Amino acid sequence: TGLFTYDPGFTSTASCESALTYIDGDEGVLLHRGYPIGQLAEGSSFMEVCYLLLNGELPSQAELTDFTRTITRHTMVHEQLSSFFSGFRRDAHPMAVMCGVVGALSAFYHDSTDISDPDQRRISAHRLIAKMPTIAAMAYKYSVGQPFVYPRNDLSYAGNFLRMTFGVPAEEYEVIPAVEKAMDRIFILHADHEQNASTSTVRLAGSSGANPFACIAAGIACLWGPAHGGANEAALNMLKEIGTPDKIPHYIARAKDKNDPFRLMGFGHRVYKNYDPRATVMQKTVREVFDALKVTDPLFETALRLEEIALNDPYFVEKKLFPNVDFYSGIILSAIGFPTTMFTVLFALARTVGWVAQWNEMISDPGQKIGRPRQLYTGPTQRDYVPLSQR
Ligand code: CMC
Repeated sequence: TGLFTYDPGFTSTASCESALTYIDGDEGVLLHRGYPIGQLAEGSSFMEVCYLLLNGELPSQAELTDFTRTITRHTMVHEQLSSFFSGFRRDAHPMAVMCGVVGALSAFYHDSTDISDPDQRRISAHRLIAKMPTIAAMAYKYSVGQPFVYPRNDLSYAGNFLRMTFGVPAEEYEVIPAVEKAMDRIFILHADHEQNASTSTVRLAGSSGANPFACIAAGIACLWGPAHGGANEAALNMLKEIGTPDKIPHYIARAKDKNDPFRLMGFGHRVYKNYDPRATVMQKTVREVFDALKVTDPLFETALRLEEIALNDPYFVEKKLFPNVDFYSGIILSAIGFPTTMFTVLFALARTVGWVAQWNEMISDPGQKIGRPRQLYTGPTQRDYVPLSQR
């Protein structure tokens, strides 16, 4: 109509101003508050990255200790929340459980409805970051029929999550330092990624003034899709289906075939037209976890070979399709012991800090308006109603 810019998929529309995360997709650069993701993954901890995203600067030791104490104060969930789980079938996908249970938190924190109060917003952010590992572990425990394990605040964020997931009351659970480190790094790699689909969903939901717990539940729903967070699950399932490297050419041919909906999962990205810097760290972490656990996985060889073949194929070169964060993460998570259905849950857990930081940034922005895209109408022009008896 000339009135609106038509931009399906918002490929060229900036929906907000943000000081959190910078991506240069052509160069394969990802910065959080200016710091390169590789340096953060190498040198910092997830708690530091959470502090950085929420507050804009890296914490001093005293600030980090204080922040960590604040988060751990909120790790427990209301005992009544446990009964939500029993409403689900045991074989429910844990992402379905996450959508429901995280949304239900809204009903437990009525104080969080006053989003104009920065202190309330901060507490909601802390609650969400603190409770996501507890809820995620509960979703897993429910699916395998084991009792819920309460958090232990003397453990690290990642260590506590591993214990709540894999520990059982009958035995002492020993956190393996290399696995704890890998888990923490995976959380760092997923912490934020500017205006991706789920973050935009959280912002859009929040733009109406909705409760933050409900907004994060909306983000979880969006993340679930295989084109977004669900790709890590889909990528590992694909590698399992391919199996051995000799089958790769067949799948490469399928991925290139316009008439076949098959895509290489864990490949390609809306913004990166170069190697996803998170995939580089992820690939290195696979080896570290294998060494620590003294295991290996033939699917890793298949993945490396698939990457090599794809990166030398004109189709993938011309379309600038590279491995993304999800390509290798499944192999690590599987080695640690997570079933594939939990992969996207871990993504949601880690992305929660990005979601709440973006939500808070939006609410703090004086220019913030309700998100309300327009459309190009393609339906019938006005016509008169025909009574049922005359149709
Ligand atoms: N395998 C084969 N061909 C592909 C792939 C792939 N993985 N990804 C894109 N293409 C082709 C696509 O067919 C299209 O070809 P043409 O121009 O001839 O029609 C071209 O590349 C551009 O693709 P698009 O779908 O228009 O690009 P997009 O920016 O809308 O999609 C994407 C980005 C990530 C959804 C897509 O690359 C994809 O579906 N990848 C597989 C799923 C995946 O790994 N998702 C995780 C993304 S990173 C983590 C996250 O965001 O959660």
